[in-house]
Amino acid sequence: MPHTLATAPVLILNGPNLNLLGRRQPEIYGTDTLADVEAMCAKAAAAHGGTVDLRQSNHEGELVDWIHEAREHHVGIVINPAAYSHTSIAILDALNTCDGMPVVEVHISNIHQREPFRHHSYVSQRADGVIAGCGVQGYVFGVERVAALVGQG
Ligand code: DQA
Repeated sequence: MPHTLATAPVLILNGPNLNLLGRRQPEIYGTDTLADVEAMCAKAAAAHGGTVDLRQSNHEGELVDWIHEAREHHVGIVINPAAYSHTSIAILDALNTCDGMPVVEVHISNIHQREPFRHHSYVSQRADGVIAGCGVQGYVFGVERVAALVGQG
């Protein structure tokens, strides 16, 4: 049986350097921290009877392990792979093991307005939706989209 928002949390995954959100290049990424993002997303999920499980890692393999865990334990994934978006076939392959699970990719900044090396994301090939340039509000949109994709929007 696939999970619903009532039976499993939305996994909100964050890649490298996002532990410094709020202090890292605030002119690009803003001043809200990951704790603020967690609170915003928890509120959005609660409105649909759900919860969130927000994690961050600077290590590609740890993100891969957490995506594997999501196959059993989460209703959907909102992922900001950060710099790994542009480099990681391993994260794409891991997401491709999550059959039928909603995956929404989020970028705080508008990657298409930035350096050319940020314009391509491997993860976008699997993502059901991609949100970029909406600031940290993009994570909330991601949670809303997961709810909609599991029929609870
Ligand atoms: C980012 C954009 C990436 O290019 C960058 O490496 C990040 C954050 C964003 O949220 O805008 O670390 O994913």
